[in-house]
Amino acid sequence: MKHRVEVLHGVNFDVLGRRPATHYGGLTLEALEVQIKAYADELDIAVAFTQTNHEGEYCEALHKAGADGLILNPGAWTHYSWAIRDALEVAALPAVEVHLSAVDEREEWRRVSVIRDVCIGTVAGKGPEGYRDALALLRERFEQ
Ligand code: DQA
Repeated sequence: MKHRVEVLHGVNFDVLGRRPATHYGGLTLEALEVQIKAYADELDIAVAFTQTNHEGEYCEALHKAGADGLILNPGAWTHYSWAIRDALEVAALPAVEVHLSAVDEREEWRRVSVIRDVCIGTVAGKGPEGYRDALALLRERFEQ
């Protein structure tokens, strides 16, 4: 049986293709998901996606998560949503935080992550390839 990973895209990811290309590469969410699916296939992992612009829905998706591991890019919520941090703790699954852009080299407020301490790792600034690193990190964890 393949291990299952759920990728949770947060706020404003539905309009990813309209966001600043300097940070997000002009990629649409659909194109990003095709790329992540290809990485998951390479690593023999089954992948599922969710996206919402509503913080409570994101928390509920974490409450309901039924995968072996999670990849979270909560977008701006990363920097202040204690609700998402607590919901992630409830999920009690290995989780990796991913950001397309180099959050630690941008504005001061983006350098804070309230979910980092409940994740097994963080990948930022590598564009879509960061999701491959996150999947590989989870696979290492599954094999332990
Ligand atoms: C982001 C970085 C966040 O600061 C920003 O609010 C996003 C996207 C990223 O993937 O680089 O929405 O999470």
